Amino acid sequence: MHAPETKLLVDKSYPSRGRHRGLFPKGLRNGIGLMRKMIQRPRGTRDFPPYEMALRRAAEQAMRDTCHSFGFGEVVTPTFEQSELFTARSGEAIVDEMYVFKDKGGREIALRPEITASVIRFFVNEMSMSPKPLKLYYVGNCFRYENPQSGRYREFFQLGAELIGNDNPETDAEVISLAVECLRATGLKNFDVRIGHIGVLKSLVLEEIDDGAVAGTVLRLIDKEDFDAVALTLKTSGIPETLFESITKIAGAKGGVDVLDGIGQTEAHEHLKELFEILKLYGIDDCQLDLGIVRGLDYYSGMVFEIDAPKLGAEKQVLGGGSYTLSELFGGEPVFSTGFAIGIDRVMLALEAEREPPKKVTLDAFVVPTEDSMRKYAFAIVSKLRAMGLRADVDLMRRSISKNLKYASSVGARFAVIVGKDEMAKRSLTLRDMISGEQTLVPADFAAEELGKALEKDSAR
Ligand code: HAM
Repeated sequence: MHAPETKLLVDKSYPSRGRHRGLFPKGLRNGIGLMRKMIQRPRGTRDFPPYEMALRRAAEQAMRDTCHSFGFGEVVTPTFEQSELFTARSGEAIVDEMYVFKDKGGREIALRPEITASVIRFFVNEMSMSPKPLKLYYVGNCFRYENPQSGRYREFFQLGAELIGNDNPETDAEVISLAVECLRATGLKNFDVRIGHIGVLKSLVLEEIDDGAVAGTVLRLIDKEDFDAVALTLKTSGIPETLFESITKIAGAKGGVDVLDGIGQTEAHEHLKELFEILKLYGIDDCQLDLGIVRGLDYYSGMVFEIDAPKLGAEKQVLGGGSYTLSELFGGEPVFSTGFAIGIDRVMLALEAEREPPKKVTLDAFVVPTEDSMRKYAFAIVSKLRAMGLRADVDLMRRSISKNLKYASSVGARFAVIVGKDEMAKRSLTLRDMISGEQTLVPADFAAEELGKALEKDSAR
């Protein structure tokens, strides 16, 4: 059952209030009321108020800066694409969840469920001649028709990166290192990095199971760690039990990189050992090997990795990625790439679970004229503060001083700049520290500089 997304409200007070009073016939004003429809947002989507957006943008900016420090450049691709871009190789699970519709020209369009396929399409169409490796990153919203719950939404936000050009251990290490540094840059402390290699399980399953659909189901069940269902699927398809034993042995290979030695030589052996060595040089030495990682998307062919924030509940995976080739599907030469996407919404939830919410400071200064004749000075002062790059606002409601100070405090202004007649007569202003309540008289010509100095010393900013 879906919750209704619209509500009909009878609001009797609306027509009789304020400046709309004259617009409505008396009968309406005095009782019958208007039928107003309150429109709810679609299920699985969210609205973000300014305070939350400030936190999200700060985390996003820290991750963008990290991408730039690794030499990655930003790209933007369309929010909707021809649906075949995703049906080509994203895998059944994602395709089932896609928002697909026909546009007015009869084309089948999908809202992007992820951004990797779009970036590779862009690369094939316009950047294939660029020197390799090509390092690209993106930030954007994605859409999946999932069952909404905390950390799982129908519209969610990703920051991702794709390194196009190779799939060697140094490429994989560079991408994993970027992923870890992005998360560290947001301030997130507790997260676990698990690294595997899809090639090992994929080649075993695809070699032993001729039926592609059964092989796909088995891989998906391994991804969900539902081994009872794996056993049942193999049994009903008449596949010998020895395969189940091999699958559970590989999928159970978890721990330090030495675990590899216990499962015999595989195509991933040398690659993963070298990758773990390079990661150590990058200062990342607490990753776990996990050969059971399959990933929900079908395009991976080599190293795969996932990062979990253990403080989150069921939806604890904050990042997923790996190496793949997609370019040949979109008409280009086959080129190996490695990439990842971070679920920004989950990172924000993980940060919230880990730390005290930062102080709500949204303005550096709120300018308060004490009376009407002071307004013209207040506008000139707020303008000067803004020109200095400070976050400044001014009374627009013609409120009293006390109401203005109350408002300044409620919106999280760090300082109030009080523009009073007596002070202005002495070419001075009052700076009020909104946390301590302390007031200082400063020369008006230097008020902006004084405020700048006070803010520099301030840790709450
Ligand atoms: P993905 O694992 O499907 O990979 O998504 C990456 C991350 O997006 C997940 O780890 C999760 O944090 C977040 N996420 C996914 N679905 C939802 C949802 N419904 N609500 C909230 N967050 C969600 C990809 O998308 C690949 N394109 C990653 C990649 C890039 N592989 C190579 N390059």
